Amino acid sequence: MTDILKFWNSFYENKTTPWDLASYAEPFKTYLDSPYCIKSGHVGVIGCGNGHECDLLIDYNFTVTGIDFANQAIQNTQNKFKNKGVLNERGFTLQEDFFKLDLENYFDVILEHTFFCAINPKLRYDYVRKIVQMLKPDGYLIALWWIMDKEDGPPYGVTQSQIFKYFAKNFNIELAYVPNNSHKTRFNSELFTVMRLTDKTI
Ligand SMILES: C[S@@+](CC[C@H](N)C(=O)[O-])C[C@H]1O[C@@H](n2cnc3c(N)ncnc32)[C@H](O)[C@@H]1O
Repeated sequence: MTDILKFWNSFYENKTTPWDLASYAEPFKTYLDSPYCIKSGHVGVIGCGNGHECDLLIDYNFTVTGIDFANQAIQNTQNKFKNKGVLNERGFTLQEDFFKLDLENYFDVILEHTFFCAINPKLRYDYVRKIVQMLKPDGYLIALWWIMDKEDGPPYGVTQSQIFKYFAKNFNIELAYVPNNSHKTRFNSELFTVMRLTDKTI
């Protein structure tokens, strides 16, 4: 087992997951209820943690794959799918290292919530390349970014202009706003974006 996997597993084993909001992040629900929302498809939830957003997406009739390398995260996400009666029908899990996933043109949508800030900043362009690889042409990245001025981590800080820079080559930014219903601990420090994949070259 790698040190990084041991590190993330230890949070779940100690039952201390300080990033966890105990529910989905409200800005995702606002988007799902909006007229702009994509209405169907297969969504990959990267670094899905306890599966709150996976659970929400099931309620909106998406097919969902929760991806995380931590065993307990996957168990907890599977339990959410079981409770909804959709496990392995519309709710799937992949217990793998995101950077080693071998999925090409697989998802219509990828959802990001506090996974990007969890990875080493040196891996950010690998992250972009992996998303470009996994999304179908014209697929969407729907993301809630934690905007912070913070070099050490996790969570590692990122600025809005850095986010736009990382994705500029491959994506068109269709929506970008500071949500008004972020969790109180993240109020005014999040950016919600919907980006459409326009260039599959990596
Ligand atoms: C900060 S948590 C966020 C969990 C969830 N998205 C949320 O917002 O509650 C980051 C998650 O990413 C997972 N993770 C970190 N690095 C990973 C990697 N390389 N591959 C797969 N999962 C990873 C961790 O196990 C953890 O569950």
